[in-house]
Amino acid sequence: MSTAADIEQTDEPGSAQKVDLKKRRFLVATTSVIGAAGAAALAVPFLGSFSPSERARAAGAPVEVDLTKIQPGQLLRVEWRGKPVWVLYRTEEMLATLEKLEDKLRDPASEVEQQPPYARNRARSIKPEYSVLVGICTHLGCSPTYRPEVAPADLGEDWLGGYYCPCHGSRYDLAGRVYKNVPAPTNLEVPPHYYMSDVRLLIGEDKKEA
Ligand code: FES
Repeated sequence: MSTAADIEQTDEPGSAQKVDLKKRRFLVATTSVIGAAGAAALAVPFLGSFSPSERARAAGAPVEVDLTKIQPGQLLRVEWRGKPVWVLYRTEEMLATLEKLEDKLRDPASEVEQQPPYARNRARSIKPEYSVLVGICTHLGCSPTYRPEVAPADLGEDWLGGYYCPCHGSRYDLAGRVYKNVPAPTNLEVPPHYYMSDVRLLIGEDKKEA
């Protein structure tokens, strides 16, 4: 199992600076969590001492996340099986946007299998406040940008926060549900995950039945 030491956390190129302050509804910080670069670097010589089969196992291992490191409104990026995975701590205001957008979405009820059964709900999550998504656009595989601000000039008056893929303009809401009339065909994928405790999340595995 990977630990926090294996987690790569990177800055998010979200553009809080571009927010129209008159319209911004979220008072929380909207940047992602930064840090642990030193810890990630330390993991390299350790992995380097593994045999090829041990390395392969480690690369596919689940990733544990310490939820105390994420503030409301923040996005934490981790890597699981070579893919970016986002953990977003959604505020009440963010959750309230999900209901308002449904007539603009292609698959608001998550009927296409892009999530485990426990994430087939409006928030696409086990706990409403935490969203866990694979950060890869379902069109051609770019990584979308976290855009939590409301009605930024480049995304328009109707934008209530979500993810924007700059490659070909696909849009997703704050649950990773894809908009209609964009190139991406499906919602973002929700990876298997479960809560080991109130403050520990494990990405990459479903909870085993006792
Ligand atoms: S890869 Fe995201 S819109 Fe094409």
